[in-house]
Amino acid sequence: MDTTTPGPTRAVYDRIGTGYSRVRRPDPRLHALIGGALEGARRILNVGAGAGSYEPEGIDVTAVDPSEVMLDQHPGPARIKARAERLPFTDGAFDAAMAVLTVHHWTDPHRGLAELRRVARKQVVFTWDPAHRPRLWLEEYLPEIGALDEARCTPLAEIVDALDAHTVLPFPIPHDFTDAFQTAHWRRPESYLDPAIRLASSTFAQLPPSVVEPAMDRLRADLDSGLWHRRHAGLLDREAVDYGYRLVVAGA
Ligand SMILES: C[S@@+](CC[C@H](N)C(=O)[O-])C[C@H]1O[C@@H](n2cnc3c(N)ncnc32)[C@H](O)[C@@H]1O
Repeated sequence: MDTTTPGPTRAVYDRIGTGYSRVRRPDPRLHALIGGALEGARRILNVGAGAGSYEPEGIDVTAVDPSEVMLDQHPGPARIKARAERLPFTDGAFDAAMAVLTVHHWTDPHRGLAELRRVARKQVVFTWDPAHRPRLWLEEYLPEIGALDEARCTPLAEIVDALDAHTVLPFPIPHDFTDAFQTAHWRRPESYLDPAIRLASSTFAQLPPSVVEPAMDRLRADLDSGLWHRRHAGLLDREAVDYGYRLVVAGA
């Protein structure tokens, strides 16, 4: 089913989403956190579902995404091409609506969050707080990441307010996190030199090669000379770092 309104823009993930499920492998620790928040829900909507990461096992989740490239990677039977801002469901159609690492892609996050509240009695949103510090060291090489994220990410407080959330749980990123989003490789810096890993992160994928490639050359040189390891020695024995990722839960 396709309920997206026609427009000039192709879904961003139709351009950058190829190969997503190969590199963005759901992490079991985050899966457990999200699964706990969804416990008891039977009719679940996944908005910005992509390849279906973090959906509870054994339940046929309804998946919504504007990108056909992403929906093609979703294994479930109920896949609907639509946007968060205009969900094609009746009020209260679901026990819970989940939205994982997607709110920062929505054109109108407030409208999308209101839609989650309209169609489900519980909302489970995994997102990132752009005001959080520390930020990943990667910005020393690519300050453009910070600017892009500031421009597109809704402040956490606004998401909490819009949902009238009762719970906000921090999720420090483990050093061996399996889902290759931008911060995942904080203790594995050489991973960012792999173009396939970079392409799986929307921030990288939206920056031009003329910006990314010289930055990666600088990172490679600092890794080769040992400068990166000297500068970031304090990270090397840490198990997890809080980079501002949060699970926001609202409703019941
Ligand atoms: C980083 S991916 C996350 C996918 C999945 N939730 C996960 O955790 O792997 C972001 C997803 O949001 C989708 N998206 C972009 N704009 C959207 C919108 N307005 N409404 C719903 N989903 C959107 C993209 O197509 C993409 O599949």
